[in-house]
Amino acid sequence: MSAARRIAVLPGDGIGPEVIAAGLAVLRRAAAACGVELACEEFDWGCDHHVRTGRMMPADALERLAGFDAIYLGAVGRPDVPDHVSIWDMILPIRQRFDQYVNLRPMALLPGVASPLAGRGPAEIDMVCVRENSEGEYSGRGSRDEDGAREEAVFTRRGIRRVVRHAFALADRRPRRLLASATKSNALRHSMVLWDEVVAEVAREFPRVSWRSYHVDALAARMVTHPQTLDVIVGSNLFGDILTDLGAAISGSLGLAPGANLNPERVHPSMFEPIHGSAPDIAGKGIANPIGAIQAGAMLLDHLGAAEAAALVTGAVHATLAAGAPRTPDLGGAATTADVTQAILSRLP
Ligand code: IPM
Ligand code: MG
Repeated sequence: MSAARRIAVLPGDGIGPEVIAAGLAVLRRAAAACGVELACEEFDWGCDHHVRTGRMMPADALERLAGFDAIYLGAVGRPDVPDHVSIWDMILPIRQRFDQYVNLRPMALLPGVASPLAGRGPAEIDMVCVRENSEGEYSGRGSRDEDGAREEAVFTRRGIRRVVRHAFALADRRPRRLLASATKSNALRHSMVLWDEVVAEVAREFPRVSWRSYHVDALAARMVTHPQTLDVIVGSNLFGDILTDLGAAISGSLGLAPGANLNPERVHPSMFEPIHGSAPDIAGKGIANPIGAIQAGAMLLDHLGAAEAAALVTGAVHATLAAGAPRTPDLGGAATTADVTQAILSRLP
C-alpha cells in the first residue's frame, strides 16, 4: 500500500464544520474501499480562534500546513468578525503562500437537478472556470486616507501566462475544445490589455482549441442566455469569483459546487473547499447541503492520485441527485445534512 495521504482539515466557521464532517465521512469510506490511507489532522482555526487570540490562525500556521499533502477547508467568516479581516488572515494567505494560482471550479448541471434557466438540461450547462487565484484584483495592495481609497490590481505577465496555459491545456483535453477568456480591456486599459495579449500568445501553443475573448459583462449574460456555447472559461481573480457564483446558481445551487485551489507544480499543498460561504443564517441547523464539500473532497482525492476513490464519491453523489431525494432546502427539499450524507454513504461499498 502507498503512503498515507496527509490532509489538514480546517472546518472553519458557520456551516463549515457541518459540511466538512459530512465530507470526511464520505471520503474515509471511499478511500477505505480502495485501500487508500488518509491521515487527517483537524485544526480549530477560524473566527472562534480570532475572538480568543486576536488571530484566525496561530503565527506558525502556514509552516504547519506546508507539511501536508492537501488542505480540506469548510468556510470562513462570522458576523462579529469583519469579513476582510477573517478572509485576509486565513483563506487568502493560504492561497497566496502556497502559490495556489489555479482556482478550478466546475459549473455543470447534474442529472436530476433543475436549473433556474427554463428549459436547460445537463447537456447544455457543462462549463469549468479556471480562475486566477494568486494576484490580480486580490493583491491586497492599496491604501486608504480621508479622501478615499486605492485598491491596486497587480497583473504580471508570468501570472497571467501560467493560469491561461493551464486553462488552454484543460480545454485541449475536453471534447469540445473551447475556451472563453473573460476580459474588460475596453475600460481597464492597462491590466486587461496585457491579459488579452498574453491570451493571444498562449493560444498559439494550442492550435486545436477554439477560443474567444468576451468582455466579462457580456460573458455573464452569455452564461445565462447561451450556456451551451461555453466550455472552459479563464478569468482574473475577481471576474472568476463573480462568474463562478453565477455558474453555480445556474447549475442548480451554490450548495452543490466544489472548488480546488491548485498549486499545479505540487511544490506546495493544494486546498479544496466548497465555493459557498459560512452561511451564518443556517449554521447549526443541520440543513446545509453537504454536496459542495463532498465534491470538493472528490477533487482532493483525485489530486492525491486516488482517482478510483474519487470516482466512487462522484458516482455516489450523482446517483443520489439523479434519484431526486433526499434534498436539502437549497434544492427545494426538506432533508437534513445527515439525510443526504447517509444517502451518499449508502451508495458506497
Ligand atoms: C470564494 C469566496 C472568496 C473569494 C472570498 C471569501 C474572499 O467568495 O472563494 O469565491 O472571493 O475568493
Ligand atoms: Mg466567491
